[in-house]
Amino acid sequence: MCGIVGYTGKEQAYPILINGLKKLEYRGYDSAGIALEQENKIVVYKTKGKVSDLEEMLKGKNISSHTGIAHTRWATHGEPNSVNAHPHLSASGKIAIVHNGIIENYDVLKDTLIQDGIALKSETDTEILVNFIEKVKEETGKNLFEATQLALKRVIGAYAIVLMDIDMPGTLVVARKGSPLVIGLGRDGDYIVASDASPIIEKTKTVYYLDDDEVGILMPGEEMVITTLNNERINPKLTELDLTIEELEKGGFDYFMLKEIYEQPKSVYDSMRGRINTEQKIIRLGGIEPYENHILESDRMIIVGCGTSWHAGLVGEYLIEELARIPVEVEYGSEFRYRNPVIRPRDVVVGISQSGETADTLAALKLAKEKGALLLGICNVVGSSIARETHAGVYTHAGPEIGVASTKAFTAQVTVLLLMALRLGYLKGTIDRERYEKLLYELEKAPELIEKVLQTDLQVQQIARVYKNATNFLYLGRGVNFPVALEGALKLKEISYIHAEGYPAAEMKHGPIALIDENMPVLVIATKKGNYDKIVSNIREIKARKGKIIAIVTEGDKQVAELADHIIEIPEASEELSPLLATIPLQLLAYHIAVMLGRDVDKPRNLAKSVTVE
Ligand code: M6R
Repeated sequence: MCGIVGYTGKEQAYPILINGLKKLEYRGYDSAGIALEQENKIVVYKTKGKVSDLEEMLKGKNISSHTGIAHTRWATHGEPNSVNAHPHLSASGKIAIVHNGIIENYDVLKDTLIQDGIALKSETDTEILVNFIEKVKEETGKNLFEATQLALKRVIGAYAIVLMDIDMPGTLVVARKGSPLVIGLGRDGDYIVASDASPIIEKTKTVYYLDDDEVGILMPGEEMVITTLNNERINPKLTELDLTIEELEKGGFDYFMLKEIYEQPKSVYDSMRGRINTEQKIIRLGGIEPYENHILESDRMIIVGCGTSWHAGLVGEYLIEELARIPVEVEYGSEFRYRNPVIRPRDVVVGISQSGETADTLAALKLAKEKGALLLGICNVVGSSIARETHAGVYTHAGPEIGVASTKAFTAQVTVLLLMALRLGYLKGTIDRERYEKLLYELEKAPELIEKVLQTDLQVQQIARVYKNATNFLYLGRGVNFPVALEGALKLKEISYIHAEGYPAAEMKHGPIALIDENMPVLVIATKKGNYDKIVSNIREIKARKGKIIAIVTEGDKQVAELADHIIEIPEASEELSPLLATIPLQLLAYHIAVMLGRDVDKPRNLAKSVTVE
């Protein structure tokens, strides 16, 4: 939520900052702004809208500078306009700040500023923060770095901030609590900082992931200094990025979302790579291996997540209960953290998150940790907050996901959950050898099968054309495909803005059936394995009420084909594998409808990729 970039060094800052913002725009696109240090002053340009609007605004302006900070915003405090856009300047105009997060005690800090007669221009908590830091600086006579340490001790909330001060030319001060910040160490002694590694990779692969309650000072050509808020020096552990520039580009696709849908054969393969010994038929999940006995002896697993990751958790519940016979509960991070949940030391709590930064999931995990549970993480972003908060975990290795609508992250999460369920079932002896080997074999074949499902794209596009003007959609599935129905509905909602609901097919009779008429498209996942007859009955019920049926069926299906208005065939596979296949046409359907309606597929309105505020 919000993307921040900062640069200081020998090069021109503007191109680095603007290109960095473009890479971070998935994090928020309500407004964009930049602050540049120029001849003893800081100039700020900001505008409502996207980074391209900022670029347009800056045409013909003097943008020459070697130190600057920039921001792309997802609005929290105050409407998205140019006044509320970041960077914010302190009252004296000497200090500029960009901020990602929320300052919870902003009203207390604001009162102290008002008492000092400081006039605030915007409605943001960030402007309060920069003025509060300036107040501490003036009152204590400290420099920006020291004043930031002191001021942050009195700040409650989440932040990743980058500051510059005219009194410290060429210097950036950075700090973090709860929101991510990565520092890239350039070869020429320059520094580039950002909310994630994507703006950094072109300049350097050597980074430091700033930790909570750390403050840093970056001066070109000088060693970076990282301290705690109490000014205790920290020895920063540097990391080498395992990321390529190609992974961050569209590679000929119109949208990142489509690229990411098409990447799924590879991303699913990557999430299994090195984890299956085909000859010995053994799964190894190195990250959690030391904790396997603990997991096997646990009373239950609680999976927490939000949005798509929560849906993957529901698939995981089905898979782990079915194959490993461990009781599983799936919780929304936001609900779990606030309802005083019963958590016992013999519980294993699993956080699922693509970004690894989702505030509610992170807070839920911290709560579970306090209560003594073992924490496992299933994250995509290496080194993310959730990955670091958990005792152990399994990375999904899906590669960077830029489209706001999650696609390849979901299938990678499901793959990891299936590997986990199979591994635990194997160790526990709750799955017989024949079934284990069959599922393992099919899982290894999944990338090929997904490749085949992607060939339905043109057909899905034709179906999209028929229903693009529908105002409502219903998605139905049973068993392990019920969460897939939820996921399909979420994809359509978030990128096309068409209202869609996912339901367990049998629940339809308990209410939603009242909605069905000749204008209601109903997407039904009706694969051969698992409750097929029951779903066929559900389809008949829809048909009897003139609903339009789009069915995802197993190749060669005749029965549903006769009833449905449209069918999309997916290859035959065990029920446990079907979410990996059935979800693909649902992603494509949402994508094509959104494109046909002229939506900004990768940056749907009101959304941000990484939700670092609750
Ligand atoms: O990064 P996370 O997996 O924790 O994100 C959770 C949700 O915000 C995310 O899945 C969201 O629902 C997506 N926009 C769905 O496509």
